[in-house]
Amino acid sequence: MTGSVPPAPAFGEPLPIEASSEVVAFLARRRSASAMALTAPGPDDAQLADLLRVAARVPDHGKLAPWRFVILRGPAKDVFAERITALADQQDNPVKAKAALRKLTRPPIAVAVISRFIPGEIPEWEQRQSASAVCLQMLLAAAALGWGANWITDWYAYDPRALELLGVEAGEQVSGFLYLGTAAEPPQERVRPDVAAITTHWTPA
Ligand SMILES: Cc1cc2nc3c(=O)[nH]c(=O)nc-3n(C[C@H](O)[C@H](O)[C@H](O)COP(=O)(O)O)c2cc1C
Repeated sequence: MTGSVPPAPAFGEPLPIEASSEVVAFLARRRSASAMALTAPGPDDAQLADLLRVAARVPDHGKLAPWRFVILRGPAKDVFAERITALADQQDNPVKAKAALRKLTRPPIAVAVISRFIPGEIPEWEQRQSASAVCLQMLLAAAALGWGANWITDWYAYDPRALELLGVEAGEQVSGFLYLGTAAEPPQERVRPDVAAITTHWTPA
């Protein structure tokens, strides 16, 4: 079901820019899988380690790696979900909040991408953007390896008690929960923006 990931290039190794019609075709048709349709199996430990290595190969101003991963799987994920469920009752819409948790409980694996902020020269905005790039890269790499994946935030990415349960520290934010597994059904194409309508050419005044 999954492909293999080549080893990391050596530091300083030339990495020529090479056209790949296969990658372009993949990007032109790729879709997230519904989190509700993600079932076992998910990536094993070695496959997940490869996936995270590829996900971490993103633009990162200042080479700060302003992000980290928290893996939720197996019985630990069940306990996390149980404790989060207890918090759903205190949300504005407990029924909706509880229903949303099925996206957490169904898939075999969740990777929380935690955005960190390292004070210094690099603006916080840029560090947060790099964390988002990690989420997208993981989504792309997972699909390229044959896994279904979905990037979700939902209320438990913002609720202070949920964040405490997850181990999110001061200055950190959840960029997303990346749900991974086997897509039980193929996703269908969704509405896409009219890119021409949101594209302009800057002209001097
Ligand atoms: C930062 C972020 C947070 C998201 N949070 C949710 C969410 O909480 N619930 C949801 O149903 N979709 C959420 N989505 C949207 C899903 O990822 C959705 O599956 C995705 O937009 C599908 O687009 P794609 O098929 O082009 O990948 C979120 C997307 C992003 C970028």
